[in-house]
Amino acid sequence: MKILVTGGTGFIGSAVVLQAIRDGHQIINVDCLTYAAATASLDAVADHPAYAFAQVDIRDRAALDTVFAQHQPDVVMHLAAESHVDRSIDGPAEFVETNVLGTFHMLEAARAYWVARGKPDAFRFHHISTDEVFGSLGETGMFNEDTRYDPRSPYSASKAGSDHLVRAWGETYGLPILLTNCSNNYGPRQFPEKLIPVTILNALAGRPLPIYGAGLNVRDWLYVEDHADALLTVLTQAAPGATYAIGGENEARNIDIVTAICKILDARRPDHAPHADLITHVTDRPGHDARYAIDPAHIRADLNWQPSLKLQEGLERTVDWYLDNEAWWQPLQARAGVGVRLGTDKSAS
Ligand SMILES: NC(=O)c1ccc[n+]([C@@H]2O[C@H](COP(=O)([O-])OP(=O)(O)OC[C@H]3O[C@@H](n4cnc5c(N)ncnc54)[C@H](O)[C@@H]3O)[C@@H](O)[C@H]2O)c1
Repeated sequence: MKILVTGGTGFIGSAVVLQAIRDGHQIINVDCLTYAAATASLDAVADHPAYAFAQVDIRDRAALDTVFAQHQPDVVMHLAAESHVDRSIDGPAEFVETNVLGTFHMLEAARAYWVARGKPDAFRFHHISTDEVFGSLGETGMFNEDTRYDPRSPYSASKAGSDHLVRAWGETYGLPILLTNCSNNYGPRQFPEKLIPVTILNALAGRPLPIYGAGLNVRDWLYVEDHADALLTVLTQAAPGATYAIGGENEARNIDIVTAICKILDARRPDHAPHADLITHVTDRPGHDARYAIDPAHIRADLNWQPSLKLQEGLERTVDWYLDNEAWWQPLQARAGVGVRLGTDKSAS
């Protein structure tokens, strides 16, 4: 199958591209290469006959039409987005433009292409979204496919807007859409501004390990390769119009994640132990959601999918990947905003 992937040079997109090619699919990767893109993530497939790349911004409708016409994909997996909550607090405009308007242009380009081809039944527009659209949970309860939308950050609001557009294009135009809302991902090739890579790389350098507030916020962590596997399962097996909530069944508080990474590094790099001495509590993120958790019953029952990795094993694999791949992350640390505290000012514009 020929899959047009947007955002394939990012964290989750690159895991999807690598797995899809292993599975025998062809890929056309549409990515404009923002600060969050890491072309080295795709070095292994850059010259593969099943891989093609188009440096295109999803807000550029004419360029999207050209990509569809040239590459004639069978299906679309739409991952391109601005994805960092802290950056969305400091600069929300980019999030609305890429996540909402960019998704609108993707939907229109896909619809025109699908109609021009005679509306093939097998076409899919798979929109990859987040559990953050559902807001914040208390100590109990879980999100599922029926949870009411309640986004609380510019990032999650822009993703919620894109989800609504995708469902509307399914209902109004009959476009065969799929939608997945996933919990926090972690693993190899995550840009070094998110909690887990920041913790690993700061600990290695002997720098403070920043914890927002008391570190009690709970996330449901999913190893990125398990997410890629879930996405390709949904793409190839789900009925058009379906929505699935995808989670790792690995709830943990931020402080526990950081402490677990410190313990792994104490074993791998005993000279600098105990790394937990570097933990530093910093001002909390405004509107920081307390808890996310996914009830994955629907995807398990319908598609027989479940995550393969438990958190401890996934964290060990992740730490080892960063220890073995300094040439991947070292150049990214020079990019704008990396290593700088972002998203603290409630009046930021
Ligand atoms: N990271 C997570 O924990 C998580 C969890 C659930 C869902 N998601 C969703 O999965 C998707 C991918 O997330 P990620 O963490 O891999 O993101 P990322 O920030 O690592 O990568 C995003 C990619 O999209 C590209 N991109 C951004 N704007 C673009 C534009 N206007 N045109 C073309 N390309 C553009 C970037 O260059 C980058 O390669 C996003 O839609 C995100 O909302 C992420």
